[in-house]
Amino acid sequence: MDFSNSDRLQTLSGTSRLAGVMGWPVAHSKSPRLQGYWLAKYGIDGTYMPLPVAPENFASAVKSLRDLGFAGVNVTIPHKQAVFDVCDELSDRAQRIGAVNTVTFADDGKILGDNTDGFGFIENLRQNAPDIDFARGPAIVLGAGGACRAIIVSLLDENCPEIRLLNRTKARADALADEINDPRITVVEWDRIDHCLEDAALLVNTTSLGMVGQPPLEIDLAGLAKQAIVTDIVYAPLKTGLLAQAEGRGNPVVDGLGMLLHQARPGFHCWFGIDPVVTPELRDFVLGTS
Ligand code: ATR
Repeated sequence: MDFSNSDRLQTLSGTSRLAGVMGWPVAHSKSPRLQGYWLAKYGIDGTYMPLPVAPENFASAVKSLRDLGFAGVNVTIPHKQAVFDVCDELSDRAQRIGAVNTVTFADDGKILGDNTDGFGFIENLRQNAPDIDFARGPAIVLGAGGACRAIIVSLLDENCPEIRLLNRTKARADALADEINDPRITVVEWDRIDHCLEDAALLVNTTSLGMVGQPPLEIDLAGLAKQAIVTDIVYAPLKTGLLAQAEGRGNPVVDGLGMLLHQARPGFHCWFGIDPVVTPELRDFVLGTS
């Protein structure tokens, strides 16, 4: 067999670094493509694989990967809460977010849990809205799910002076605000959004509205200052209705794909030793357009 022209030929040495993503299902995950791109780019002797693991096998699977010598794993739906109990140590941000998406196996066998979603959110904005100053004014955050919690914690860490939290089911927003317990969070009724836009510096959609197959996010941005930055964690489509409306009236906009890409950096750094860069080529590759 002639493999000389095969760019799919991959060989691993006896000292390869191993990592992967655990989910159920996991076939849809973009992480293997993303991490695989960086492994190739930096010429690293390692691999990153999809690991479909049913919930009932989750804890034993994590310990088995440790015992097999894996460097670590990403953890996605439905395991982000369950992994919390498996970890021996949690980073400060994982504790405050209440979920883990990045696990590293320490040399002494300890299972270390981190949550990099908030980091990814902040870094995406820093890269794509370089003038951003999180302390400049209030942030409006729509939603109250798992991603929302990570975003709120990260905004508070960046000295955001006020977070106005709006969710269709107000009780979930109230519960989230109670759990995070920071006086800078104010819960606002979902249908009162028009009344809290005026002095906002940042508007974030963390709901699933606007995603392919979901209803649109119906919002009138007329009251929003033109310099307010608008971002969406939905990245399919890349330009959601919210971002199209904001861009059309001159607001700076940042799409959600970068959050996915940047949240992967700390794991790659821990497991493979390099803090990788997020580039336009990586975006195209992860989207499957190159
Ligand atoms: P995740 O944990 O991944 O963020 P989630 O918990 O399912 O996902 O959260 C989805 C978010 O989208 C929620 O804030 C949800 O609002 P509810 O708490 O009221 O369910 C929001 N969402 C989904 N469909 C919605 C709709 N049709 N109108 C308004 N908000 C919606």
